[in-house]
Amino acid sequence: MTRFVWSEEFELGIDIIDHQHQRIVEYINQIYDISAADLDAATGENTAEIKQVLASLVDYTVSHFAFEEALMEEADYPELSEHQLVHRQFTGLIENLKARCEQGEEVSQKLAAVLQQWLIQHIMTEDKGYAELVKQQLLGIEPEQHRHWVAEAVSRYFQ
Ligand SMILES: [Fe+2]
Repeated sequence: MTRFVWSEEFELGIDIIDHQHQRIVEYINQIYDISAADLDAATGENTAEIKQVLASLVDYTVSHFAFEEALMEEADYPELSEHQLVHRQFTGLIENLKARCEQGEEVSQKLAAVLQQWLIQHIMTEDKGYAELVKQQLLGIEPEQHRHWVAEAVSRYFQ
């Protein structure tokens, strides 16, 4: 695999979500860079750094999912429960990899690859599925009201 290069085709046209997705991409690239460096050094050990990035990634992703679900709920998106299920499955997957990493198993390369593939696929299918409705419902409202809703939701889900 290579580093994740963000491209316009991944954009949903909802700034706050696009920004959060790019932040997740940054974490994935950090894991990729660290694991590549670890392989060079042939240490075969998980550094404190990778554990730290992984913990941040899990935290951030959980917050992002909660934010996205609130957005879909606000827009009365009919496939919210299916989307939530996909989020739960992915959270389980990364929590499992995080636990294995903490126990010393070398998972960073696999993790970076899985995350990259999953995120691209998820954005291009499930996320694109809600984008139009959310844009119509939320971005169609008064800019002031919209800003207020976004600011309130951000403070609810992100520390
Ligand atoms: Fe999603």
